[in-house]
Amino acid sequence: MATKIMVTGGAGFIGSHVVDMLINAGNQVLVVDSLWEHGGGRLENVNPKATFFQLDVTTPEFSELVRAERPQVISHHAAQHSVKISTEKPDYDAKVNILGLINVLRAAKDAGTRKVIFASSGAIFGTPDDLPINEQTPQRPESPYGITKMTSEHYLRYWRVANGLQYTALRYGNVYGPRQDPNGEAGVIAIFAKRILEREPVRIDWDGEQTKDYVFVQDVARATLLSLSKGDGESICIASGEPISVNQIYRQLTELVGYEVPIQRAPRRAGDVHAAYFDVSKAARVLGWSPEVSFDAGIRITLDSFRGASSAG
Ligand SMILES: NC(=O)c1ccc[n+]([C@@H]2O[C@H](COP(=O)([O-])OP(=O)(O)OC[C@H]3O[C@@H](n4cnc5c(N)ncnc54)[C@H](O)[C@@H]3O)[C@@H](O)[C@H]2O)c1
Repeated sequence: MATKIMVTGGAGFIGSHVVDMLINAGNQVLVVDSLWEHGGGRLENVNPKATFFQLDVTTPEFSELVRAERPQVISHHAAQHSVKISTEKPDYDAKVNILGLINVLRAAKDAGTRKVIFASSGAIFGTPDDLPINEQTPQRPESPYGITKMTSEHYLRYWRVANGLQYTALRYGNVYGPRQDPNGEAGVIAIFAKRILEREPVRIDWDGEQTKDYVFVQDVARATLLSLSKGDGESICIASGEPISVNQIYRQLTELVGYEVPIQRAPRRAGDVHAAYFDVSKAARVLGWSPEVSFDAGIRITLDSFRGASSAG
């Protein structure tokens, strides 16, 4: 049966893929997005079958909309997601990520919403002592952004106990794929794909051997779909389970295009972790989720999408 689902941040990179997947599965979807100037939200990302509201999740107008529309589930992706902005403006970061979430939770309770599915982040862990990272890894976030994501999970747990509102927190690794903003500070695959297609130099920090766990956006979106009926009261890591280095990303992209571009070397950036990857067995156990798109396939799809975007003007 169709579920009425509100996706905040649904014009953004991950949120728009979540919207597409929910609609393809036969659900009714409302998208709320402020199209924040520093975010990846674009009107053209919004599925035409969704109903779109340009609203800020921190405002009373947003809570009024939730109370009026009474969604059964809210997938909360709207956030201030820049680590850099969070360090420069921790008050703004807390306003959107904490007060925005509280606005979502309060309105959800009033509207009789059953569940909130939350976009959390591997940033809650900081630098782990041991690898792979799993749900029990100690949380020592190294940025205000990581702190607000960690704190958000505590609010979700509290709201469930105090108000009976269900939640699942999905802790994403480094998500990549079509529609990722290539002008953002993160998203090395999108940034490299754009620059390589434009035959511009790419910047590689440190020795380039630092690894992260890159997970394809459609795999990530599928975790939200599965969380509609599973994972109540759980925090779950959603990642590929594989470490991939920056050098490897450069090599794979240049092999796919068939030429190289100059590399600008730069020192280590503050907060860069030398190695990170996740154990995703809890996602398999609780949600029946595991990554389906290999890195080879995902990077090819991503490059093709950026090729299409640049030829479209
Ligand atoms: N991209 C990743 O690798 C990654 C990793 C971990 C977690 N996340 C989380 O996933 C979510 C989506 O991230 P993304 O990469 O798709 O970024 P994105 O910028 O493409 O999407 C975020 C969307 O939220 C909207 N937004 C921002 N502030 C808002 C506000 N106050 N009210 C309403 N809408 C607002 C933006 O306009 C944008 O469309 C975020 O919560 C982010 O913290 C992303």
